Amino acid sequence: MIKFLYGRMIPALALALAAAFAMTPLAAAQFPGMQPPKHYPWSDATLLPDLRADLVIKEMTLDEKISLLHGQGMPFFTTGPTESNGGAGYSNAIPRLGIPAIQMADSAYGVTRGAAAGRYSTALPNNLGAASSWDPQAAFEYGALIGRELRDEGYSMSLGGGVNLAREPRNGRTFEYQGEDPLLAGTLDGNVEKGIQSQHIIGDLKHYAINDQESGRNAVNANIDKRSMRESDLRAFEIALDISDAGGVMCSYNRINGDFACENSYLLHDVLKNDFHFKGFVLSDWGATHSTVKASHAGLDMEQPDKFFFGEALKNAVASGEVSQAELNDHVHRILRTIFASGLFDHPIVKQVPDVEKGYAIAQSLAEKSIVLLKNEHNVLPLSAEIHSVALIGGHADVGVICGGGSAQVDAPGGSAVPPPPVKNPMEAFMRMQWMPSSPLRALVAAMPSAKLSYTSGDDVSAAIAAAKAADVAIVFAYQWESEGMDLPTLALAPEQNALIEAVAAANPKTIVVLETGSPALMPWVDKVAGIVEAWYPGIRGGEALANILTGKVNPTGKLAITFPKSDADLPHPTIVQPPPASEINWASLRGDISKAMSLMAKGLPPFQIYYNEKLEVGYKWYDAQKKPVLFPFGYGLSYTTYAYSGLGVQPGDGLTVSFTVKNTGERAGTEIAEVYSSIPASAGEPPKRLIGWARVELGPGESKQVTVPVAKDRLTIYSEASDSWKLVPGTYDVMVGGSSQDLPLHQEVTLP
Ligand code: BGC
Repeated sequence: MIKFLYGRMIPALALALAAAFAMTPLAAAQFPGMQPPKHYPWSDATLLPDLRADLVIKEMTLDEKISLLHGQGMPFFTTGPTESNGGAGYSNAIPRLGIPAIQMADSAYGVTRGAAAGRYSTALPNNLGAASSWDPQAAFEYGALIGRELRDEGYSMSLGGGVNLAREPRNGRTFEYQGEDPLLAGTLDGNVEKGIQSQHIIGDLKHYAINDQESGRNAVNANIDKRSMRESDLRAFEIALDISDAGGVMCSYNRINGDFACENSYLLHDVLKNDFHFKGFVLSDWGATHSTVKASHAGLDMEQPDKFFFGEALKNAVASGEVSQAELNDHVHRILRTIFASGLFDHPIVKQVPDVEKGYAIAQSLAEKSIVLLKNEHNVLPLSAEIHSVALIGGHADVGVICGGGSAQVDAPGGSAVPPPPVKNPMEAFMRMQWMPSSPLRALVAAMPSAKLSYTSGDDVSAAIAAAKAADVAIVFAYQWESEGMDLPTLALAPEQNALIEAVAAANPKTIVVLETGSPALMPWVDKVAGIVEAWYPGIRGGEALANILTGKVNPTGKLAITFPKSDADLPHPTIVQPPPASEINWASLRGDISKAMSLMAKGLPPFQIYYNEKLEVGYKWYDAQKKPVLFPFGYGLSYTTYAYSGLGVQPGDGLTVSFTVKNTGERAGTEIAEVYSSIPASAGEPPKRLIGWARVELGPGESKQVTVPVAKDRLTIYSEASDSWKLVPGTYDVMVGGSSQDLPLHQEVTLP
């Protein structure tokens, strides 16, 4: 009834009626020092978000509308609005109408900037690491924790949700993304966003799109055909959106086929808003807006963090009719609708102390699911009770674990475990190697009370050799730091780390390497060591999680969400295309002045080209198609038990139903990630196979389970550029099942009409 009334009542009457309702004290808390907000027609939570948004729009002045469509500067770099909570972005409140501010904080693997303001945030394992769990429920928990802590710290929107496919694994932000397969990445990221939004926080997917290298990111023009985008990179966004209904999508810095992402009407209007039915708002990456009218027409809804184009300039464009009222209202509607749909309006933010203990426990369990056992010769792992002495070498394993930098950087509680060098400007602080205070040494000492553990830094190789010789087992900790704002010149570890591993391996046949990397690593020593464990950037309880994996308290389950190639030369692009000097921002000459940099970016740096000629062959699809052997394939990971597959059955229907049996053939309980791939009929011109589903199967020792994996039809279709539609290609599909993309013992052909 109320719905009916509000939908049709004239606003004045509605307002008068609404004033009769009292506002809750919770809601009052978001406008400290202001009049307690009134009850408005749009306060009725039973109304649809679109209707609520329209009711607000009817009451808004032009200035109020414009005020929602841009940021106000960046408080942690420059002066920002006093109402900002200190996060990277802020969009105005309209207290007169009860509309709350959108307080945005980066939060890829935990809340950041809130932490810089002196509050605790949980540093989770990094995104690519967490993707190794292949566990949608774990991804949801990951997001729910971030959502809770955003709320606790006074934020209402996450700027996490990176889902760019790893076309270029040396991209310095690979650690923030979810790997190389659109189904896996989209499913996991969608669940992260769903988790965030379960806390009535606005989620965000980024960086839309084809923002696959940091070098020259503000200038680069990515050349790529539509089919490759739709089936790969954009597909990941599409799946993530379907699952999460994320309220925000951040358009990226780069150009795609000539147009900047934030004024690319194919990407924003045709694909995102039309084909994907995205109902939320598009916000620009920080300084990625380059025009007013073109960007507005293309579908950009909000400029961040400034108002070069969507402040006065947009107001003028509306006044002159270049931007219509309808277009302006659509931008405003999308933002307001998201405030209602996310529940932010009805569940105002109230700051409180985050639950640190709960954060620790979740971070540890997620890290345990993320760690991937890559090699385990003669069962050197888990460290058995017969091991009396272990030499830990290098990687600062006495004090902590490394984490990823840039806007994703979660501050280490109490400061970095390895003191970073002093900084001269905010940009240097932005990209500073930091270590979470979670010591693998301390955790192993606690987990192996009767063994003798030592730590040697590795700086003195002869001391490391002596320690390795004196111990039953040597564990070398090696790392590769990554950050936004840089790419890795190579996937190789630093030469001194490789040399250290070689020297220790020569001194002790029971040498295990623990890697803390955000991308795949090259391993010239792979045949010389007994064990290899990929721990990624494992977060605030990384040391404890590692100790549990190494000692076997936890049986590893993680599987690679990204291929580990044998060399850089095997990648689709043997080297990263470097920008000419004019296409780069010279931070040194700007002395870290972010405002100047933003205005330079806004003007648009001269483009340079990158051609993604590998097209559909992203990640494992490239190595499969090019028949290049790899170090460790996509989907690979060992366990302390073993599994056998049998009895495949494939039933066509509306898609496929794939069933098979997995047996735990070892003596320990474990969880196997069973993977399902399919070829596409040859006429389609697709890579040899694609992932179409998977299941996590928990099995006790000796136990067998029948597993059914439903495969929706859209996991088998291809995109036709000619008809701008998706098609199921008639013909024979070879369905393959097993424990990694290169270990698929079961297969069955099925013909689809
Ligand atoms: C990054 C975004 C981030 C934004 C705000 C940009 O430099 O590319 O991922 O959300 O800054 O910090």
